[in-house]
Amino acid sequence: MTSSPGARRARFDHVSLGFDTPGGRLTVIDDVSYDIDEGEFVAVIGPSGCGKTTMLNMLAGFQAPTSGRVLFDGVPVSGPGPERGVIFQEYGVFPWLTVRDNIAFGLRLKANRVPAAERDEICSHYLALMGLSEFADAYPKHLSGGMRQRLAIARAYAVRPRFLLMDEPFGALDAQTRIHMQNLLLHVLAAERKSVMLITHSVEEAVFLASRVVVVTARPARVKDIVEVPFGYPRTEQLRERREFAELRAHVGRLVMDEYKATTPAQSFVPAD
Ligand SMILES: Nc1ncnc2c1ncn2[C@@H]1O[C@H](COP(=O)(O)OP(=O)(O)OP(=O)(O)O)[C@@H](O)[C@H]1O
Ligand SMILES: [Mg+2]
Repeated sequence: MTSSPGARRARFDHVSLGFDTPGGRLTVIDDVSYDIDEGEFVAVIGPSGCGKTTMLNMLAGFQAPTSGRVLFDGVPVSGPGPERGVIFQEYGVFPWLTVRDNIAFGLRLKANRVPAAERDEICSHYLALMGLSEFADAYPKHLSGGMRQRLAIARAYAVRPRFLLMDEPFGALDAQTRIHMQNLLLHVLAAERKSVMLITHSVEEAVFLASRVVVVTARPARVKDIVEVPFGYPRTEQLRERREFAELRAHVGRLVMDEYKATTPAQSFVPAD
């Protein structure tokens, strides 16, 4: 299934997951298997409510599978860890800390602690990168929605995790900032080798950023197809103009649209036992 020569970092191995709900047992993930290798960038795309965040939560260590195994570096995931940095679907910032202290937060934790001078340097670097320098001493409530999201991204980048788990990180941003953030992500990845799992609803974003795109079905989430993205890195804006890019985007778009059309949520309910 994988073609990358890198070592395997993350593996979903026949993973299924169900929730008990008032309406009965809800099967969310159904026998999902794929790998994310060292240095690989995997985008996961599929209809709303199909189970993408649930999948990411399992790799982040917030949710255990009902059956199958979720492995990180060959070991079953049993909880969160500093080597896996998460950017949540909803703003992951602390309202009681200033912008600068939000970025510094992870660097004060035992697992990532760095000396104060280095911490200040890292904070200033990511404040500038995200265009937030002039708001360093402001509190999140004084930021716009898009700025808060950029702060959440800066917080995750600042601890330089080896593996980034990103849940629709750019979804709340305007179109121009979104493109800027995509390019910044590529820039950060070129400077610091990482593996990435990115959840997105944007076919364009998936094909522009990822080395593979995992298309998942309407709930319960199954792997519908895994599409290799043959464009090398570094990638620049010119890629979006290429015919091969447009063709691949159209191909992935068709796979995704089929699943949006096939969304039949009621079928996922079976009586609880
Ligand atoms: N803790 C929970 N208990 C019960 N059901 C849950 C729980 N968490 C998620 N679900 C259900 O699991 C399904 C998948 O949710 P999930 O958040 O993974 O979807 P998603 O693919 O990320 O959707 P979106 O694209 O809208 O973010 C949904 O039907 C949701 O209601
Ligand atoms: Mg989600």
